[in-house]
Amino acid sequence: MKSNPGGQIDVKAVIGRDRLIRTLWESIEQQSLIITAERRIGKTTVIKKMRAEPADGWMPVFQDLERFHTAAEFAMSVYKEIHEFLGHKGKTMRRAKEWFTAMGGTEIGGLFKLPEKPGAHWKDILSRAIEDLIHENEATGTRLLFLWDEMPFMLANIRDREGEQTAMEVLDLLRALRQTHSALRMVITGSIGLHHVLASLKKKNYANAPVNDMHAVDVPPLDQADAITLATQLIQGENLSAPAIHDAAAAIAHEADCFPFYIHHIVRALKIRGLAANPANVAQVVASQLVDANDPWELLHYRERIPNYYRDEEQPALLVLDQLATQTQAASVNALLAMLKNASEFDDRERLLHLLKLMERDHYLQRADTGGYRFRFPLISRWWKINRGL
Ligand SMILES: Nc1ncnc2c1ncn2[C@@H]1O[C@H](COP(=O)(O)OP(=O)(O)OP(=O)(O)O)[C@@H](O)[C@H]1O
Ligand SMILES: [Mg+2]
Repeated sequence: MKSNPGGQIDVKAVIGRDRLIRTLWESIEQQSLIITAERRIGKTTVIKKMRAEPADGWMPVFQDLERFHTAAEFAMSVYKEIHEFLGHKGKTMRRAKEWFTAMGGTEIGGLFKLPEKPGAHWKDILSRAIEDLIHENEATGTRLLFLWDEMPFMLANIRDREGEQTAMEVLDLLRALRQTHSALRMVITGSIGLHHVLASLKKKNYANAPVNDMHAVDVPPLDQADAITLATQLIQGENLSAPAIHDAAAAIAHEADCFPFYIHHIVRALKIRGLAANPANVAQVVASQLVDANDPWELLHYRERIPNYYRDEEQPALLVLDQLATQTQAASVNALLAMLKNASEFDDRERLLHLLKLMERDHYLQRADTGGYRFRFPLISRWWKINRGL
């Protein structure tokens, strides 16, 4: 297997994730899911594998929602997807299509457009398209699963382009559809946390709980054995010289914190530099990639998103991370509060507790058994220290 960090990988090149995917299919029996996890950990890869190898009785539809900026674009893309899907099966969407034509919608070269009238046509088109699909699909006895990648990103786009109200309406409609159709499931995921988008909507008095019928699932890094398998296959695929391949692969898995994305990067870097795969060379390429100004591992977002994620709490968040990056033990809430008092004007235990919770949800931090906080991923802690010159 060739290294391909960040690229589209073939389903056959997906290593591990079998147990996770089995659990996901089991959970989907009961309810819809939100897959949360750190960036670049392999969320999209997981849901693409689910699309490629659906469990018995399920019909998955995968859509990347990143490029949609309005509720109508979203609705039309779902419409188009369903139209094509049914077309392949020699069926048509009857109700949605009649309505679409009656509303003056047009299709030019496979591009479907609603007329630019004010009003919420998109709601009708979305509901009717899904109803058509459910209706046609019922005959086959399978249930329908939407795999929606980058949903939070799209909601943020809609919020910024059309306002909070429309973003809320999208969420409410999706929830209503889930509740009306018992055979319908949704899996949503994305590179930004949905809770950030919801928090911004709550500020505009959005009191609904639009996803509390969904089950949240975290995607962890690969299991260690799978990480080593991936590293081994990449070393072999890239024809690297590796006198003790298991040691080299174990070193790669360890340095990468078992993130598949970083494993691909390490092997690629060894290849480009013409280095043999051995633990010393692995350590050397990782050390140089972590200080590389081009940020090949895309780690800068851990720093750059902080003002946006924590707004008024940017300073305390930075101080907490700086502190934790320079100590090996987890730090208690009291110790962190004392540090903040010492280093700044910050003196509010409740605010700190709230901030720490958020930082945990955003995968910066993890609680140790003692209750104290530490970095969730040693690699990120190591990079933070370098990046901040600590
Ligand atoms: N199970 C896996 N086996 C092998 N390689 C993987 C696996 N999962 C992820 N990768 C590698 O990591 C890269 C990133 O994975 P993916 O795009 O799925 O992450 P993501 O969590 O969706 O990222 P983002 O947060 O940016 O959306 C892939 O391009 C691939 O190189
Ligand atoms: Mg992704």
